[in-house]
Order: sequence, then C-alpha cells, then structure tokens
Amino acid sequence: MLTTRFTEALGIEHPIVQGGMMWVGRAELAAAVSEAGGLGIITALTQPTPADLVAEIERARKLTDKPIGVNLTILPSINPPPYDEYRRAIVDAGITIVETAGSSPEPHMEMFHEHGVKVIHKCTSVRHALKAEKVGVTAVSIDGFECAGHPGEDDIPGLVLIPAAADALTIPFIASGGFADGRGLAAALALGADGVNMGTRFMCTTESPIDRVVKERIVEASELDTNLIFRPLRNTARVAKNAVSDEVVSILAAGGQFPDVRELVAGARGRKVFERGDTEAGIWSVGLVQGLIRDIPNAGEVVHRTVDEAERILRSRLALFAEPEPVAAGA
Ligand SMILES: Cc1cc2nc3c(=O)[nH]c(=O)nc-3n(C[C@H](O)[C@H](O)[C@H](O)COP(=O)(O)O)c2cc1C
Repeated sequence: MLTTRFTEALGIEHPIVQGGMMWVGRAELAAAVSEAGGLGIITALTQPTPADLVAEIERARKLTDKPIGVNLTILPSINPPPYDEYRRAIVDAGITIVETAGSSPEPHMEMFHEHGVKVIHKCTSVRHALKAEKVGVTAVSIDGFECAGHPGEDDIPGLVLIPAAADALTIPFIASGGFADGRGLAAALALGADGVNMGTRFMCTTESPIDRVVKERIVEASELDTNLIFRPLRNTARVAKNAVSDEVVSILAAGGQFPDVRELVAGARGRKVFERGDTEAGIWSVGLVQGLIRDIPNAGEVVHRTVDEAERILRSRLALFAEPEPVAAGA
C-alpha cells in the first residue's frame, strides 16, 4: 500500500488522481477510477448546466460508493459560464472534493470551507502553489511543462518543478504532467510528491467516453506528436499535432491574432474529434506522455498496475541502492 499524506488527507486508497478533462471527465470514467481506489474527477463544465452536473454526479454515485471529485476550471472568457451556480450545485450535491484550475481558488474558498469541501488546486508554478496553500487549499496538483492542456508560460518540466514544489510547500501535493505508469509514480514519490495526477493516460481507457479512433491515435503517436498553440498570446495549450494545430501555430507565428484562428480552434470542432473520431476535425488536448501509452485498458487496471509497478520499483530496483542495515552488536 502506497499510503501518503495525500491519500490520508483525501480519504482515498491509492495516490492516483484522474484530472478533470473537458468532454472526457464524465461519470463512467470518474467512477471507475474511484472504484479502483484512486480519485476520479467529473468535469463540471462538460455538463451544459449546473442541473446536468448534479445528474452526472448522481449517475457516478450509482457506479461507486467511493469519493468522487469535481473539477471547476475557471478561465477568463467573453461569456463566462455561471461559475457560482456550478459551485452551488457541487456543494448541494454533497461533493466533498473539488479540483480547481485556471485561476486562483480564493473567491471560492469561503463557501467550500463552510461546507467541508476539500480543495485540490491545480497550477503550473511554485508561486501559484504557494498562493493556493495560503488561501487554505487541502492539496496542490502541480502541472509540469509536459502536461496536456495548459502548461503555463514558465516551461519548467516536472524533473525540476516537482522537487522545487517539495522544497517550498508544507501541504501535500501531487505531481501532474507526463505520468502514465508505475515508473512515473515511483519517480514522483522520489522527487517529493505525495502522488500523481494523470490526464492523457486515463483518456486512453475503455471508460473514457471518446471515440475509439482517438484512443488508437494516442497509442500510435509518439512524444513528438504534440503542438504548443497560443504561445505568442501567452495562453499556451499543448494539443495533438494535426493539420489544424499546425495551421494555428503558423498563423500566430506569422503575427496573426486570435480572431485569425478563432474558427480553427472552436470548441465545437474539438468536440467533433471526440464524438466522431475524426482526429483532424479540430484541436484536442493531449500530453507528451502519449509516447509511453501503448494500450487501451480499463481505468481500474491503470490504477492497479501503476501502484503495483511503483511498489515493485521502490521495493526491489531502488532498494538495491539502499544502505545495508547495520548489524546489531552481538549478532
Ligand atoms: C482532453 C483533455 C482535456 C482536459 N481538460 C481540462 C480541463 O477542462 N480542466 C483542467 O483543469 N485540466 C484539463 N486537462 C488537464 C488534465 O486534467 C491534466 O492536468 C493533464 O492532462 C496532466 O497531464 P498528462 O496528460 O500528461 O497526464 C485536460 C487534459 C486532457 C488530456
């Protein structure tokens, strides 16, 4: 058993979280991860209304009795979703673990605290992690440059970001971005993290509600097959390399502005990728770690084999380097 400060603080069995994923984090996937002893997370904004979110939470509860989290991603937008109503729905549905991301969790902390909700704040820098610690989150999830989605603008990979976070934080934290197996979990623990968060790995499982063609594309792809879009706009996103993301990169590199790529990056096109299995229909998030993903197992198997492999590595391979126990006097 890999019990850590994180598993104890959140009341889960294994130090593995399935991070919130737009269009992917639905009831079946979240419940499968939680049922296996990890922490599954439903993505609030994938549901068109707060009432739909409550129905999705109820669906997940029919599939598992174990704790399930909800992701609330707060990004600046021209027509922002009704964040306060989603937050109210989360609390009213009796959810006790929330993953916040996108901007500071501060405006939400009072209400979450009042209702005993534990907050895991996901961010991409030590300074933001420290700020989240200060406003009272239970744990931090720190996303390295390898991650799918928004890696921030600092470009610090996990190998430096994780120990830097370990040095700075006092609350438990998990490492995110680039993790897919027990080697990654063992490494994260060695670097000072209390567990891992995985997105791309769980996206490529049987319970992930996207077309199988997209999962097969992840299996075929290498670590070279992603693009970083929106770099010049300082809103970087790591997405699958395809004709659409290549075009977005070249338009912006040539001095284009957001309106010049708006149609290419439309959410409706990205959704088509997942629903129809047309991997060239739009942009879709995926991480460098796709280069390590070679199969489409069920989500529970991912949790179990990740923990088993990490335990094997820590007990045998790394134990080889441990100092021999001193022999007791008189023995
Ligand atoms: C398809 C997809 C959609 C995602 N959507 C969100 C999101 O809506 N909110 C969020 O906080 N993170 C989102 N993420 C990021 C993941 O929660 C996680 O932080 C990231 O995938 C970790 O990197 P990895 O893919 O290398 O494991 C998304 C990731 C993927 C692959």
